[in-house]
Amino acid sequence: MYTTARNDTELTRGVIERIGKSWDTRVAVRKERLDLTQYTDPTLPDFPISMVPFWGHEEFAPLDDATKMRLLATAWVGYNEKAIYLEDEIVQPLCSLLLKDRLPGAGDPRVKQVLAQVQVDEQFHILMCLDICNNARQRYRLDDYVAAEPLLGTRLKRTLARLDDERERAIARLAYAAVAEMSINAYLNQVANDMTIQPLNRINTDMHRKDESVHGIAFREITASVYRALGEEGQRSFRAHVRDALEDFTAPDLTSWESILDYIGVPGRKRILATLREQAKGKRLARDYTVLASLFEELGVTQELGFRFDH
Ligand SMILES: [Fe+2]
Ligand SMILES: [Fe+2]
Repeated sequence: MYTTARNDTELTRGVIERIGKSWDTRVAVRKERLDLTQYTDPTLPDFPISMVPFWGHEEFAPLDDATKMRLLATAWVGYNEKAIYLEDEIVQPLCSLLLKDRLPGAGDPRVKQVLAQVQVDEQFHILMCLDICNNARQRYRLDDYVAAEPLLGTRLKRTLARLDDERERAIARLAYAAVAEMSINAYLNQVANDMTIQPLNRINTDMHRKDESVHGIAFREITASVYRALGEEGQRSFRAHVRDALEDFTAPDLTSWESILDYIGVPGRKRILATLREQAKGKRLARDYTVLASLFEELGVTQELGFRFDH
């Protein structure tokens, strides 16, 4: 099952073998651990102020610095919780299904090697995010903060519950994992270069980002091979699930800010959230979808997906 080699894989770019071979010397899990006992500067925030959409809001701006720093630390935890969620609920389950041949097109031993490597990487990223969150939680006494489930996860779960065919569920998972792996890089990039936050937080995110830039390339190749092997009906359903996934990944998701504002107990949070909801109407989150767009171009499905990748 896990190690059965199948001649069902069509690789077009010769990248999988290179990725598999470079793993030992390339990835975060094989490097020295980040020293979390390093000095932290109490004057630096944990999360970029520029990423807080209500920083200048009249209900928020007058609050004292201590409350604001505590909110930024909670936002940092929320940001990492979302990364962990993507690893644990979206990417890992799909890798596991592909290793077990639940979908065709990924049976080549080189692909299975890379899938297992991705799983190791993701598990290590979970550990990295967990450690760095604990660090912030300890400094700001945030032990009992419970992050909200991302909207995209709630929606995928709803879709999976309504599908009774195992293969169809695997195809839905492939669509969400493909979008996740080809866009998480952009999610991490927002923070990986930010010099205004705790250096530890930035370095941790940058290490994660480096691994993910390779995952994006690997997933592009693996998704293409599975898509080609799916057959007409499977391909049609993949395209439908990709449409949903793109919609869900780019829909403004206020659940996280809501849980953060509630946790900190910001007095004017109702008005802040109302403003955010108003601003979010008809908006899409802009992300760098270059790799995803080039995959859909190669598969000749860009037009049919009807998604604008250029913003
Ligand atoms: Fe990751
Ligand atoms: Fe990844």
